[in-house]
Amino acid sequence: MDRRLFLASTLCAGLSPDIAWGAQTDSPLKQLAAAKGVRYGTSTGTHALFGDAGYAAIVAREAAMLVSEYQGKRAQLQPAPDRYDFAALDAIVAYAQRHGMAMRGHTLCWYATNPPWLDVQMKSDLPIAAKRKLLTDYVAKVAGRYRGRIAEWDVVNEAIEPADGWPLGMRTRNNIWAVLSERYIDMAFHTARAADPSAALFLNEFGIEAATSWNERKRHALLLLLSRLKQRGVPIDGLGIQAHLRPYKDKFDQEVFATFLRQVTDMGLRISITEMDFSDRGGSNDPRQRDIDMAAAAKAFLDVALDNPATRTVMTWGVTDRYSWLTSRFASDPWPNGGVARALPYDANLRPKPMRTAIAQAFLDAPARPRWRRGAA
Ligand code: G3I
Repeated sequence: MDRRLFLASTLCAGLSPDIAWGAQTDSPLKQLAAAKGVRYGTSTGTHALFGDAGYAAIVAREAAMLVSEYQGKRAQLQPAPDRYDFAALDAIVAYAQRHGMAMRGHTLCWYATNPPWLDVQMKSDLPIAAKRKLLTDYVAKVAGRYRGRIAEWDVVNEAIEPADGWPLGMRTRNNIWAVLSERYIDMAFHTARAADPSAALFLNEFGIEAATSWNERKRHALLLLLSRLKQRGVPIDGLGIQAHLRPYKDKFDQEVFATFLRQVTDMGLRISITEMDFSDRGGSNDPRQRDIDMAAAAKAFLDVALDNPATRTVMTWGVTDRYSWLTSRFASDPWPNGGVARALPYDANLRPKPMRTAIAQAFLDAPARPRWRRGAA
Protein backbone atom coordinates (compact mmCIF):
# COMPACT_ATOMS: atom_id res chain seq x y z
CA MET A 1 0.00 0.00 0.00
CA ASP A 2 1.28 3.39 -0.98
CA ARG A 3 2.67 5.18 2.12
CA ARG A 4 0.32 8.10 1.70
CA LEU A 5 -2.67 5.86 1.31
CA PHE A 6 -1.60 4.05 4.49
CA LEU A 7 -1.35 7.31 6.36
CA ALA A 8 -4.74 8.47 5.16
CA SER A 9 -6.27 5.11 6.13
CA THR A 10 -4.60 5.40 9.54
CA LEU A 11 -6.53 8.56 10.05
CA CYS A 12 -9.74 6.90 8.96
CA ALA A 13 -9.06 4.06 11.41
CA GLY A 14 -9.35 6.67 14.13
CA LEU A 15 -5.72 6.48 15.24
CA SER A 16 -4.51 9.74 16.63
CA PRO A 17 -2.77 11.47 13.77
CA ASP A 18 0.18 12.21 16.03
CA ILE A 19 0.91 8.48 16.40
CA ALA A 20 1.03 8.07 12.65
CA TRP A 21 2.97 11.18 11.77
CA GLY A 22 6.08 12.87 13.01
CA ALA A 23 6.46 16.00 15.13
CA GLN A 24 7.47 17.93 12.01
CA THR A 25 3.79 18.40 11.35
CA ASP A 26 3.85 20.93 14.22
CA SER A 27 5.90 23.30 12.05
CA PRO A 28 4.00 26.24 10.54
CA LEU A 29 2.08 25.20 7.42
CA LYS A 30 3.67 28.03 5.43
CA GLN A 31 7.11 26.62 6.29
CA LEU A 32 6.26 23.03 5.36
CA ALA A 33 4.72 24.25 2.10
CA ALA A 34 7.59 26.60 1.24
CA ALA A 35 10.07 23.73 1.63
CA LYS A 36 8.41 22.18 -1.45
CA GLY A 37 8.00 25.40 -3.46
CA VAL A 38 4.34 25.87 -2.50
CA ARG A 39 2.60 28.81 -0.82
CA TYR A 40 -0.01 28.00 1.83
CA GLY A 41 -2.49 30.65 2.86
CA THR A 42 -6.04 31.50 3.81
CA SER A 43 -8.90 33.80 3.02
CA THR A 44 -9.59 36.48 5.60
CA GLY A 45 -11.64 39.59 6.43
CA THR A 46 -10.89 42.75 8.40
CA HIS A 47 -13.47 41.98 11.11
CA ALA A 48 -11.59 38.87 12.30
CA LEU A 49 -8.08 39.89 11.24
CA PHE A 50 -8.14 43.11 13.27
CA GLY A 51 -10.78 42.16 15.86
CA ASP A 52 -9.82 38.66 17.00
CA ALA A 53 -6.24 38.41 18.32
CA GLY A 54 -6.35 34.63 18.73
CA TYR A 55 -7.44 34.19 15.13
CA ALA A 56 -4.84 36.69 13.87
CA ALA A 57 -2.08 34.80 15.71
CA ILE A 58 -2.98 31.62 13.82
CA VAL A 59 -3.02 33.47 10.50
CA ALA A 60 0.38 35.05 11.22
CA ARG A 61 1.89 31.68 12.18
CA GLU A 62 0.43 29.53 9.40
CA ALA A 63 -0.10 31.65 6.29
CA ALA A 64 2.34 32.85 3.63
CA MET A 65 -0.49 34.29 1.50
CA LEU A 66 -3.85 35.98 2.09
CA VAL A 67 -6.92 36.56 -0.02
CA SER A 68 -9.88 38.75 0.84
CA GLU A 69 -12.90 36.50 1.32
CA TYR A 70 -15.47 39.14 0.45
CA GLN A 71 -14.02 42.65 0.63
CA GLY A 72 -12.33 42.52 -2.77
CA LYS A 73 -15.50 42.10 -4.78
CA ARG A 74 -17.15 44.79 -6.87
CA ALA A 75 -20.16 45.30 -4.57
CA GLN A 76 -17.71 46.26 -1.81
CA LEU A 77 -15.14 48.12 -3.93
CA GLN A 78 -17.46 50.16 -6.18
CA PRO A 79 -20.74 50.81 -4.36
CA ALA A 80 -21.61 53.60 -6.81
CA PRO A 81 -20.55 54.34 -10.39
CA ASP A 82 -18.41 57.28 -9.26
CA ARG A 83 -17.39 55.93 -5.85
CA TYR A 84 -14.77 53.38 -4.89
CA ASP A 85 -14.12 52.14 -1.36
CA PHE A 86 -10.77 50.36 -1.07
CA ALA A 87 -10.36 50.84 2.70
CA ALA A 88 -10.93 47.21 3.73
CA LEU A 89 -8.90 45.65 0.91
CA ASP A 90 -6.11 48.20 1.42
CA ALA A 91 -5.99 47.19 5.10
CA ILE A 92 -5.64 43.50 4.25
CA VAL A 93 -2.97 44.18 1.61
CA ALA A 94 -1.06 46.37 4.07
CA TYR A 95 -1.32 43.67 6.76
CA ALA A 96 0.07 41.10 4.33
CA GLN A 97 2.95 43.39 3.39
CA ARG A 98 3.75 44.07 7.08
CA HIS A 99 3.84 40.33 7.75
CA GLY A 100 5.82 39.39 4.65
CA MET A 101 2.87 37.61 3.13
CA ALA A 102 1.85 37.46 -0.54
CA MET A 103 -1.67 38.33 -1.73
CA ARG A 104 -4.18 36.66 -4.00
CA GLY A 105 -6.74 38.99 -5.55
CA HIS A 106 -10.37 37.80 -5.61
CA THR A 107 -12.04 38.62 -7.92
CA LEU A 108 -12.00 41.07 -10.84
CA CYS A 109 -14.96 39.71 -12.80
CA TRP A 110 -17.78 37.57 -11.43
CA TYR A 111 -21.45 37.22 -12.33
CA ALA A 112 -22.24 37.56 -8.60
CA THR A 113 -21.71 40.23 -5.88
CA ASN A 114 -21.91 43.10 -8.30
CA PRO A 115 -23.42 46.40 -7.12
CA PRO A 116 -27.06 46.90 -8.19
CA TRP A 117 -26.17 49.97 -10.29
CA LEU A 118 -23.95 47.81 -12.52
CA ASP A 119 -26.76 45.42 -13.39
CA VAL A 120 -28.97 48.42 -14.20
CA GLN A 121 -26.39 49.90 -16.54
CA MET A 122 -25.58 46.56 -18.19
CA LYS A 123 -29.28 46.14 -18.95
CA SER A 124 -29.73 49.74 -20.12
CA ASP A 125 -29.57 51.06 -23.69
CA LEU A 126 -25.99 52.24 -23.24
CA PRO A 127 -23.87 51.61 -26.36
CA ILE A 128 -22.00 48.27 -26.30
CA ALA A 129 -18.66 50.13 -26.16
CA ALA A 130 -19.76 51.87 -22.96
CA LYS A 131 -20.79 48.55 -21.43
CA ARG A 132 -17.46 47.02 -22.38
CA LYS A 133 -15.77 49.92 -20.56
CA LEU A 134 -17.85 49.17 -17.46
CA LEU A 135 -15.91 45.90 -17.31
CA THR A 136 -12.47 46.97 -18.54
CA ASP A 137 -12.31 50.28 -16.65
CA TYR A 138 -13.03 48.43 -13.39
CA VAL A 139 -10.43 45.73 -14.03
CA ALA A 140 -7.83 48.34 -14.99
CA LYS A 141 -8.61 50.47 -11.95
CA VAL A 142 -8.44 47.67 -9.37
CA ALA A 143 -5.56 45.66 -10.87
CA GLY A 144 -3.70 48.90 -11.49
CA ARG A 145 -4.18 50.09 -7.91
CA TYR A 146 -2.51 46.97 -6.52
CA ARG A 147 0.11 46.67 -9.27
CA GLY A 148 3.10 44.73 -7.95
CA ARG A 149 1.30 43.79 -4.71
CA ILE A 150 -0.93 40.92 -5.90
CA ALA A 151 0.89 37.70 -6.77
CA GLU A 152 -2.17 35.99 -8.27
CA TRP A 153 -5.48 37.40 -9.52
CA ASP A 154 -8.72 35.50 -9.95
CA VAL A 155 -9.46 37.52 -13.06
CA VAL A 156 -12.70 35.67 -13.87
CA ASN A 157 -14.63 33.60 -11.33
CA GLU A 158 -17.04 30.74 -12.12
CA ALA A 159 -17.43 31.04 -15.91
CA ILE A 160 -18.78 27.49 -16.33
CA GLU A 161 -22.38 26.38 -15.75
CA PRO A 162 -23.67 23.55 -18.00
CA ALA A 163 -27.13 23.90 -16.40
CA ASP A 164 -27.49 27.21 -18.25
CA GLY A 165 -27.96 25.15 -21.39
CA TRP A 166 -25.27 26.73 -23.56
CA PRO A 167 -23.82 24.05 -25.87
CA LEU A 168 -20.29 24.55 -24.57
CA GLY A 169 -21.34 24.62 -20.91
CA MET A 170 -20.65 28.30 -20.30
CA ARG A 171 -22.41 30.31 -17.57
CA THR A 172 -24.69 32.47 -19.73
CA ARG A 173 -27.61 33.56 -17.52
CA ASN A 174 -26.09 36.83 -16.38
CA ASN A 175 -25.80 40.40 -17.60
CA ILE A 176 -22.13 40.22 -18.44
CA TRP A 177 -22.60 37.31 -20.85
CA ALA A 178 -25.80 38.80 -22.25
CA VAL A 179 -23.90 41.91 -23.34
CA LEU A 180 -20.38 40.73 -24.08
CA SER A 181 -20.70 36.94 -24.67
CA GLU A 182 -17.63 34.80 -24.03
CA ARG A 183 -15.24 37.56 -25.08
CA TYR A 184 -15.75 39.19 -21.66
CA ILE A 185 -13.17 36.70 -20.48
CA ASP A 186 -10.63 37.80 -23.10
CA MET A 187 -11.24 41.47 -22.27
CA ALA A 188 -10.81 40.91 -18.54
CA PHE A 189 -7.55 38.98 -18.90
CA HIS A 190 -5.97 41.35 -21.45
CA THR A 191 -6.90 44.35 -19.30
CA ALA A 192 -5.53 42.71 -16.14
CA ARG A 193 -2.25 41.83 -17.87
CA ALA A 194 -1.81 45.40 -19.08
CA ALA A 195 -2.67 46.80 -15.62
CA ASP A 196 -0.32 44.50 -13.70
CA PRO A 197 2.17 42.48 -15.79
CA SER A 198 3.69 41.06 -12.59
CA ALA A 199 0.56 39.23 -11.44
CA ALA A 200 -0.20 35.62 -12.42
CA LEU A 201 -3.70 35.55 -13.95
CA PHE A 202 -6.18 32.80 -13.10
CA LEU A 203 -9.57 31.51 -14.13
CA ASN A 204 -11.21 30.28 -10.91
CA GLU A 205 -13.83 27.50 -10.79
CA PHE A 206 -15.68 25.19 -8.39
CA GLY A 207 -17.28 21.77 -8.79
CA ILE A 208 -14.45 20.27 -10.86
CA GLU A 209 -12.82 18.01 -8.25
CA ALA A 210 -15.11 15.05 -7.59
CA ALA A 211 -15.84 11.83 -9.48
CA THR A 212 -19.47 12.80 -10.09
CA SER A 213 -21.23 13.17 -13.44
CA TRP A 214 -21.90 16.82 -12.70
CA ASN A 215 -18.27 17.59 -11.96
CA GLU A 216 -17.27 15.63 -15.06
CA ARG A 217 -19.54 17.84 -17.19
CA LYS A 218 -17.95 20.93 -15.67
CA ARG A 219 -14.40 19.62 -16.19
CA HIS A 220 -15.19 18.87 -19.84
CA ALA A 221 -16.61 22.36 -20.45
CA LEU A 222 -13.73 23.97 -18.60
CA LEU A 223 -11.05 22.15 -20.59
CA LEU A 224 -12.76 23.22 -23.83
CA LEU A 225 -12.84 26.83 -22.60
CA LEU A 226 -9.19 26.82 -21.53
CA SER A 227 -8.24 25.45 -24.95
CA ARG A 228 -10.20 28.23 -26.73
CA LEU A 229 -8.62 30.88 -24.53
CA LYS A 230 -5.13 29.57 -25.24
CA GLN A 231 -5.90 29.43 -28.97
CA ARG A 232 -7.08 33.07 -28.87
CA GLY A 233 -3.89 34.16 -27.14
CA VAL A 234 -5.64 35.15 -23.91
CA PRO A 235 -2.93 35.87 -21.28
CA ILE A 236 -3.99 33.24 -18.73
CA ASP A 237 -1.37 31.74 -16.43
CA GLY A 238 -3.33 29.25 -14.38
CA LEU A 239 -6.48 27.56 -13.19
CA GLY A 240 -7.83 28.23 -9.72
CA ILE A 241 -9.54 25.14 -8.30
CA GLN A 242 -11.80 26.25 -5.47
CA ALA A 243 -12.00 22.80 -3.80
CA HIS A 244 -15.14 23.31 -1.71
CA LEU A 245 -15.36 19.56 -1.14
CA ARG A 246 -18.17 17.43 0.29
CA PRO A 247 -16.51 14.11 1.18
CA TYR A 248 -19.66 12.45 2.52
CA LYS A 249 -21.71 13.36 -0.53
CA ASP A 250 -19.36 13.41 -3.54
CA LYS A 251 -17.00 10.54 -4.32
CA PHE A 252 -13.40 11.66 -4.77
CA ASP A 253 -11.23 9.54 -7.08
CA GLN A 254 -7.53 10.33 -7.02
CA GLU A 255 -6.91 9.08 -10.54
CA VAL A 256 -9.78 11.08 -12.02
CA PHE A 257 -8.53 14.27 -10.38
CA ALA A 258 -4.89 13.60 -11.25
CA THR A 259 -5.82 13.08 -14.90
CA PHE A 260 -7.74 16.36 -14.95
CA LEU A 261 -4.80 18.24 -13.44
CA ARG A 262 -2.49 16.82 -16.12
CA GLN A 263 -4.93 17.89 -18.85
CA VAL A 264 -4.77 21.43 -17.46
CA THR A 265 -1.02 21.59 -16.92
CA ASP A 266 -0.36 20.02 -20.35
CA MET A 267 -1.72 23.37 -21.66
CA GLY A 268 1.15 25.13 -19.89
CA LEU A 269 -1.07 26.35 -17.05
CA ARG A 270 -0.27 26.27 -13.34
CA ILE A 271 -2.65 25.22 -10.59
CA SER A 272 -3.76 27.05 -7.46
CA ILE A 273 -6.04 25.41 -4.92
CA THR A 274 -7.90 28.60 -4.04
CA GLU A 275 -10.74 27.99 -1.53
CA MET A 276 -10.23 24.57 0.05
CA ASP A 277 -12.60 23.40 2.75
CA PHE A 278 -14.32 20.11 3.57
CA SER A 279 -18.00 20.13 4.44
CA ASP A 280 -18.70 17.56 7.19
CA ARG A 281 -22.44 17.54 6.58
CA GLY A 282 -23.75 13.99 6.30
CA GLY A 283 -21.23 12.27 8.58
CA SER A 284 -21.53 10.50 11.90
CA ASN A 285 -22.97 12.24 14.95
CA ASP A 286 -19.56 12.06 16.57
CA PRO A 287 -17.69 15.28 15.69
CA ARG A 288 -14.37 13.60 16.43
CA GLN A 289 -15.04 10.96 13.79
CA ARG A 290 -16.09 13.64 11.31
CA ASP A 291 -12.87 15.51 12.05
CA ILE A 292 -10.87 12.35 11.34
CA ASP A 293 -12.81 11.67 8.14
CA MET A 294 -12.34 15.25 6.90
CA ALA A 295 -8.63 15.02 7.64
CA ALA A 296 -8.35 11.85 5.56
CA ALA A 297 -10.25 13.57 2.74
CA ALA A 298 -7.87 16.52 2.90
CA LYS A 299 -4.85 14.25 2.71
CA ALA A 300 -6.24 12.24 -0.21
CA PHE A 301 -7.05 15.45 -2.10
CA LEU A 302 -3.80 17.27 -1.42
CA ASP A 303 -1.64 14.22 -2.20
CA VAL A 304 -2.99 14.37 -5.76
CA ALA A 305 -2.87 18.16 -6.07
CA LEU A 306 0.67 18.38 -4.75
CA ASP A 307 1.90 15.43 -6.82
CA ASN A 308 1.51 17.72 -9.83
CA PRO A 309 4.56 20.01 -9.95
CA ALA A 310 2.48 22.84 -11.44
CA THR A 311 0.53 23.22 -8.18
CA ARG A 312 2.10 26.17 -6.40
CA THR A 313 -0.56 27.56 -4.13
CA VAL A 314 -2.87 25.96 -1.55
CA MET A 315 -5.40 28.27 0.12
CA THR A 316 -8.01 27.23 2.66
CA TRP A 317 -11.22 29.27 2.69
CA GLY A 318 -10.67 30.36 6.24
CA VAL A 319 -8.43 28.66 8.77
CA THR A 320 -10.82 28.08 11.71
CA ASP A 321 -14.39 26.83 12.03
CA ARG A 322 -15.05 30.02 13.99
CA TYR A 323 -15.27 31.86 10.65
CA SER A 324 -16.49 29.55 7.91
CA TRP A 325 -18.84 30.66 5.16
CA LEU A 326 -20.42 27.21 5.33
CA THR A 327 -21.92 27.94 8.73
CA SER A 328 -23.49 31.26 7.71
CA ARG A 329 -24.40 30.11 4.19
CA PHE A 330 -26.44 27.18 5.50
CA ALA A 331 -27.68 28.79 8.71
CA SER A 332 -31.24 27.76 7.81
CA ASP A 333 -30.12 24.12 7.74
CA PRO A 334 -28.10 23.96 10.95
CA TRP A 335 -25.00 21.86 11.27
CA PRO A 336 -24.95 19.06 13.86
CA ASN A 337 -23.25 19.44 17.25
CA GLY A 338 -23.67 23.09 17.98
CA GLY A 339 -24.25 24.32 14.49
CA VAL A 340 -20.83 25.05 13.03
CA ALA A 341 -19.29 23.45 9.99
CA ARG A 342 -16.11 21.55 10.89
CA ALA A 343 -14.50 22.19 7.50
CA LEU A 344 -11.16 23.83 8.34
CA PRO A 345 -7.81 23.02 10.04
CA TYR A 346 -8.67 24.69 13.39
CA ASP A 347 -11.86 24.33 15.40
CA ALA A 348 -14.11 27.18 16.56
CA ASN A 349 -12.07 27.37 19.80
CA LEU A 350 -8.92 27.89 17.73
CA ARG A 351 -7.54 24.42 18.53
CA PRO A 352 -5.79 22.46 15.76
CA LYS A 353 -7.77 19.53 14.38
CA PRO A 354 -6.64 16.32 12.64
CA MET A 355 -7.10 18.21 9.35
CA ARG A 356 -4.23 20.51 10.25
CA THR A 357 -2.00 17.48 10.76
CA ALA A 358 -3.19 16.03 7.48
CA ILE A 359 -2.41 19.23 5.56
CA ALA A 360 1.01 19.42 7.22
CA GLN A 361 1.75 15.81 6.34
CA ALA A 362 0.65 16.39 2.74
CA PHE A 363 3.23 19.17 2.45
CA LEU A 364 5.86 16.91 4.06
CA ASP A 365 5.03 14.10 1.61
CA ALA A 366 4.89 16.35 -1.46
CA PRO A 367 7.69 16.41 -4.04
CA ALA A 368 9.60 19.70 -4.28
CA ARG A 369 9.02 21.85 -7.39
CA PRO A 370 11.18 24.47 -9.12
CA ARG A 371 10.33 28.16 -8.91
CA TRP A 372 7.57 29.21 -11.36
CA ARG A 373 8.41 31.16 -14.50
CA ARG A 374 5.62 32.43 -16.75
CA GLY A 375 5.29 30.16 -19.78
CA ALA A 376 6.79 27.14 -18.00
CA ALA A 377 3.92 25.73 -15.88
O1 G3I B 1 -19.61 41.62 7.38
C1 G3I B 1 -20.94 41.99 6.98
C2 G3I B 1 -21.76 42.33 8.20
O2 G3I B 1 -21.21 43.51 8.81
C3 G3I B 1 -23.21 42.59 7.78
O3 G3I B 1 -24.00 42.84 8.93
C4 G3I B 1 -23.72 41.35 7.03
C5 G3I B 1 -25.16 41.50 6.57
O4 G3I B 1 -25.18 42.33 5.43
O5 G3I B 1 -22.90 41.13 5.87
C6 G3I B 1 -21.57 40.83 6.25
O6 G3I B 1 -20.82 40.63 5.09
C7 G3I B 1 -21.09 39.37 4.45
C8 G3I B 1 -19.74 38.66 4.28
O7 G3I B 1 -19.90 37.43 3.53
C9 G3I B 1 -19.09 38.31 5.61
O8 G3I B 1 -19.89 37.36 6.25
C10 G3I B 1 -21.68 39.66 3.09
O9 G3I B 1 -22.97 40.20 3.25
C11 G3I B 1 -21.79 38.35 2.30
O10 G3I B 1 -22.21 38.62 0.96
C12 G3I B 1 -20.41 37.70 2.21
O11 G3I B 1 -20.56 36.44 1.55
C13 G3I B 1 -19.35 35.98 0.92
C14 G3I B 1 -19.74 35.46 -0.48
O12 G3I B 1 -18.62 34.84 -1.12
C15 G3I B 1 -20.20 36.62 -1.35
O13 G3I B 1 -19.15 37.57 -1.43
C16 G3I B 1 -18.77 34.83 1.75
O14 G3I B 1 -18.26 35.36 2.98
C17 G3I B 1 -17.66 34.14 0.99
O15 G3I B 1 -17.21 32.98 1.69
C18 G3I B 1 -18.14 33.70 -0.40
O16 G3I B 1 -17.02 33.18 -1.06
C19 G3I B 1 -17.29 32.57 -2.36
C20 G3I B 1 -16.14 32.95 -3.28
O17 G3I B 1 -16.07 34.36 -3.41
C21 G3I B 1 -16.31 32.26 -4.63
N1 G3I B 1 -16.39 30.80 -4.46
C22 G3I B 1 -17.51 30.39 -3.57
C23 G3I B 1 -17.31 31.03 -2.20
C24 G3I B 1 -18.39 30.57 -1.23
O18 G3I B 1 -19.64 31.01 -1.66
